[in-house]
Amino acid sequence: METVAIPTKAKISLIAITKQYITPRTGQTTLAVSDVSLNIQQGEFLCIVGPSGCGKSTILSMIAGLTKPSSGTISMDGNAIHGPGRERGVVFQDYALFPWKTVRENIEFGPRFRDRAPLSTAARRELVDHYIELVSLNGSEDKYPHELSGGMRQRCAFARALANEPDVLLMDEPFAALDAQTRLILQEELLRIWGEELPRDKRKTVVFITHGIDEAVFLADRVAVMSNHPGQIKMEKPIGLPRPRNEGVRLTTDFQKLVDEIWQLIRHDAYEATIGKAGIKQA
Ligand SMILES: Nc1ncnc2c1ncn2[C@@H]1O[C@H](COP(=O)(O)OP(=O)(O)OP(=O)(O)O)[C@@H](O)[C@H]1O
Ligand SMILES: [Mg+2]
Repeated sequence: METVAIPTKAKISLIAITKQYITPRTGQTTLAVSDVSLNIQQGEFLCIVGPSGCGKSTILSMIAGLTKPSSGTISMDGNAIHGPGRERGVVFQDYALFPWKTVRENIEFGPRFRDRAPLSTAARRELVDHYIELVSLNGSEDKYPHELSGGMRQRCAFARALANEPDVLLMDEPFAALDAQTRLILQEELLRIWGEELPRDKRKTVVFITHGIDEAVFLADRVAVMSNHPGQIKMEKPIGLPRPRNEGVRLTTDFQKLVDEIWQLIRHDAYEATIGKAGIKQA
């Protein structure tokens, strides 16, 4: 396939992206994303927040190469993205594990079928053991997904994405289905695994979608706030909170101020998306 070089220093670059869906059954068109431009830097942790239906998953799916933009260009390391690639790992909300495979087999799936530099059985075992350990699933490696809790399933899905050793992790509301306590624990684990204390060039680049504004502020270097109809980026908010971050940061005034500022930006759209225009209250 033709590779178009795009002059940019960003790890991932979206230039004037628009996505219109056409439903073949009805011919109905939906402008899901309109004229979105966004640069994501190497090692950056970017969160995208916005009301339901504003196009967050569509953007992630286009970066993953699973959905084609109607117009505009998406590039990684200066090369246009034309389809999925091993260097971009995706973690979805619903885990997307193979139900007929054990934890170990799920995590081993990518490394087993990698075409570049195939691994010996011993090396593959070592790699899989490493990721099982990293997400604290030791002792559960022979269980099937239905024998795991939601948090364990999510950790397994995460390890499966990591085992491909991607440069970029694309995460679509990965913790949304979890209870509040597990979510908080996994947020801290994610920062540890991402490499919060590593220099930027050694970290993975993460694009993380969430409905949780406090989750976004806790995790991100920068939060992109989207608006509805059509889906656009309303604001990019840098999160200057010191790292490494832990529970204590949530109690600080700076944290609360950032959460409130972002909520004020999306509350109007969020009400509209959830209960319709009639329910919109004035600030
Ligand atoms: N395959 C599709 N065909 C037609 N329309 C679609 C398709 N996928 C998404 N849409 C529409 O595009 C818009 C954006 O959807 P998207 O899933 O990207 O939103 P979202 O921000 O991820 O929402 P949520 O927060 O609820 O997950 C919505 O109006 C949705 O109905
Ligand atoms: Mg979504």
